[in-house]
Amino acid sequence: MPSLALRCDADGGIGLGHLMRCQALAVVAAEAGWSVRWLVRGQAAIAALPDATVLAGTVSDPPLAGAASMSTADWAVVDHYGADDAGLRSLAPARTLTFDDHQRRAASLRVAPWDAPAAGSLTGAAHIILRPAFAKPAVTHRTGTIVAFGGADSEGWTALCLAELARIRHPRPVAVLTTAAARQAQDLDRAVAALPAGGSLHYGLDAAAVAALFAGAVDAVCACSTVAVELQASGVRIVAVPRVDNQEPLAGLLVRGGVPVARNPIAAVAALVQATRHPHIDGLGAWRVAAAMGITVTPPLPPLVDAPATVEPVSDADSGAIWAINTAADVRRWSVRQTPIPWHDHERWWTTRSGEMMVARIGGIVAACARRDADGWMNVAVHPSARRRGLAALLLRRLTPGRRCLALIHRDNQASLGLFSACGYAPYRSADANGFTTLIAEPS
Ligand SMILES: CC(C)(COP(=O)(O)OP(=O)(O)OC[C@H]1O[C@@H](n2cnc3c(N)ncnc32)[C@H](O)[C@@H]1OP(=O)(O)O)[C@@H](O)C(=O)NCCC(=O)NCCS
Repeated sequence: MPSLALRCDADGGIGLGHLMRCQALAVVAAEAGWSVRWLVRGQAAIAALPDATVLAGTVSDPPLAGAASMSTADWAVVDHYGADDAGLRSLAPARTLTFDDHQRRAASLRVAPWDAPAAGSLTGAAHIILRPAFAKPAVTHRTGTIVAFGGADSEGWTALCLAELARIRHPRPVAVLTTAAARQAQDLDRAVAALPAGGSLHYGLDAAAVAALFAGAVDAVCACSTVAVELQASGVRIVAVPRVDNQEPLAGLLVRGGVPVARNPIAAVAALVQATRHPHIDGLGAWRVAAAMGITVTPPLPPLVDAPATVEPVSDADSGAIWAINTAADVRRWSVRQTPIPWHDHERWWTTRSGEMMVARIGGIVAACARRDADGWMNVAVHPSARRRGLAALLLRRLTPGRRCLALIHRDNQASLGLFSACGYAPYRSADANGFTTLIAEPS
């Protein structure tokens, strides 16, 4: 069984961010059948991971002290300040993964969403790792506004923001994500009571509850931290407000993606009224990073509504959904190239692809795609959660008629053999050395 070892800490000083993104990656690896083990320090990490190996020392001791056992894993994930190149090299033969703000050159792979593209780095917003709950935003009726400055709101920005929303007679109910301490210190009950459309205070929620709250929101004013990305992934229009220096890289990324970034809560409320654009962030970062590590993944599909399917030519906005379908383990399994598709490879292919490509949507969600390349070779894939609804047949029947089409199908791929024969394809060439047979449809 392939294995993953993760080295990160979490406590009140360094926060929970490292632990949360490592946990998201660990969930994806475990779902793919990898064994996962943790080496941690810090009370929050120890409490969250009861089966972890607890290293001696404090979170400020050298990160890899006592972590030599990670070298027996296939991949060693080191999410830690102060991990130096020599330490990372000492983990060989394990391949190493490190993260943006403390990346080391010696790592096999670096997750660096806000850096310029570079060999060995997973760059761009598509690689931001979020907790899995944010990849599946529930489809709900959106009505509210979120205010989320997090636990470190020492300047009282939550109260300032609520006062400004009350002053402009903000028309939507406001859900405030805060802490018990801030509620008291900023007298937030009184601030919420003054909102014209009402509001509610929330703290101590788990990720699923936060995701559900976000799924009901139209817009938000938030800190320029992970919460901004979680809101974007949930389809919420945001204005982000950087509070401390280490939030500036994300602020820069959001600005480049067209998201308004304001410098204080008053300016943020003004920008909220005008905010209209979103960058392409879909919450699938953990799956993309796992795929780049060679882990077979099946990124989740948003819930499908009970609606008829439509077939349309593909659009540029479908790129992420098509990666999610094509990299699903059960699609790779039947492909000539069986390894997971790294996102950057998909992006390169996407910009140079040729031929004709159609997608099938259910309630706006892309659930299947098919392509006829310039030489007539067909390729079709349906997300595992959307199979046996006739989507593949619908696509093939749109792309095939009136011209010569060919399909390369593994002789054990019963679903595909059944599909192509139901759509009028006949055997053409018997199986090659790798077991792939060719089927053909001639123009009638
Ligand atoms: C093959 C695949 C594209 C079928 O997609 P789908 O949307 O589930 O297929 P449809 O619902 O349109 O099925 C159409 C017909 O194909 C046949 N078929 C589809 N899935 C089948 C299965 N699992 N077993 C046997 N026959 C199957 C049936 O004849 C079916 O008609 P029916 O449902 O009336 O019996 C899908 O299973 C897939 O994405 N597999 C992985 C990728 C792949 O193998 N692609 C083909 C390589 S080119």
